[in-house]
This record gives sequence, structure tokens and C-alpha cells, in this order.
Amino acid sequence: MIDIVVLTGAGLSAESGLRTFRDSGGLWEDHAVEDVATPAAFRRNPDLVHRFYNERRRQARSAQPNAAHRALARLSRQPGVLVVTQNVDDLLDRAGAQGVIHMHGALNRGICAACGNRFAVTGDLATADPCPACGAAALRPDIVWFGEMPQQMELIMGALQTARTFAAIGTSGQVYPAAGFVEIANGSGADCVEINLDPHRSSPLFHRHIAGPATTTVPAWVDEVIGPAASGDR
Ligand code: APR
Repeated sequence: MIDIVVLTGAGLSAESGLRTFRDSGGLWEDHAVEDVATPAAFRRNPDLVHRFYNERRRQARSAQPNAAHRALARLSRQPGVLVVTQNVDDLLDRAGAQGVIHMHGALNRGICAACGNRFAVTGDLATADPCPACGAAALRPDIVWFGEMPQQMELIMGALQTARTFAAIGTSGQVYPAAGFVEIANGSGADCVEINLDPHRSSPLFHRHIAGPATTTVPAWVDEVIGPAASGDR
């Protein structure tokens, strides 16, 4: 049974050099959501959408996990912990996190719109590339776009109902359904903690706010929840 659910957002990877979406200088300042992050955008201009995600993939591959990813990786290896991320980078996984749910998909996977095959992606994807399974030129990044259903929602919803602690880390809480997780966890009696650089606009449903950069606040919070790491497990 799940005791602790952690939801992470772009702020977790900000100190690894990956841009957030809605902060000043965020990705949505340079790119309109409706041009690059919807199924209609992909139908209209697949080359542009591939270019956008190819660039994201290159940046994610050159970024390194930070102390917050490593702390959550340690937490994820405890029984009864579920880490859910909205991030499409793989920095939590590369930090050694177990069982991370990538609810908004992952840059290092592609999916064939013709046959549904999912496959690993390391380099760029292009409109004319054939599917490794069926050969159709219908590949897209395995990213959940606006208007699409996030992945593994049933599992997440079940976990939110049993959790005694819910932590939202580095997310602005503006995108549903993730933004509604605090309501479900709070309604089920969980202690709800928000960890954010700047929590001043957050939901009143959180019982506690921890302000500051994730690389400092998250390791301290994880130490508080499961005790300090043995040397060699940082
Ligand atoms: N430490 C902690 N929090 C930080 C840091 C940091 N170093 N830097 C920024 N933040 C916080 C910001 O204060 C902000 O609240 O991270 C949050 C980032 O918010 P968004 O850019 O909106 O990112 P996120 O909440 O993950 O977005 C959700 O929106 O467009 C979609 O699919 C995309 O998964 C994404 C979703």
C-alpha cells in the first residue's frame, strides 16, 4: 500500500539547467502551447513539433541529475512510496529512482500512431522515420499533449487515496489533472506539503509550505521523512 505520494514538476530539474514552463524565461514564453504541444499542432506541422521535442531531448540528455533528484531516488527505494513526475526528462530515473510514473510521457520514448508500438529514442525523431515495428511513417514522441489523457492515472488515483503524505515539488499547480492531486490527497486525510522556490500563489489545501531551491529543500525534507542517508547513499 502506498503511504507517500510525491508529485514533481519542472522546478525539480531547473537547477540541472532545464527550463521550466511558466517561470520568467520559461519555455511557454518562446513557444505557443497550441503550436507545439497539442495533437492538432502535430497534425498541422509535425516537423515543427519534432524539432521542439528533439531540442528538449538533446538538452535533457546533456543535463545531469541534481541533489533533489538523488534525494527523491533514495526516497523512492523505500517501501510504500510512489514518485509521480510531470517531467518528461529522465533525471529521476538516472539518479536511481525506482518505479517513477511519467504521467506526461517521456522524451526517451516514441510511439507509433499507426500500430501503438512504444520504443526507445536516443536521437532525433523525424516525420519520415519508419516505425521499427510496422514501418509506417507515423512516429511521435511519447509525450502527453494538452487535451490527451495522462498516463497511469488509475494507479496514481489509487495511491492518492491511501497516502498519508502528499508532497508537490517544483510544480506551479496550473495543469490538471496533476493540479487536483492535492485535493484528492487532502480529502483522504493526507498531510499535504508543498516544496517550491516560491509558494506564494499555491493552493490553501497544502498544510505546509517549504520555500527554497529544490537542491536544498528536497534533501532536507527527505532526511526528515526517512532519516538521513547512510554514507554512500547520497
Ligand atoms: N526549486 C523549486 N521550485 C522551483 C525551482 C527550484 N530551483 N525553480 C522553479 N521552481 C518552481 C516555480 O516556482 C514553479 O512553481 O517550479 C514551478 C514550475 O512551474 P511550471 O513551469 O508551470 O512547471 P510544471 O508545474 O511542471 O508544469 C506542469 O505544464 O506545460 C505543461 O506538460 C508541461 O508537465 C508540464 C506541466
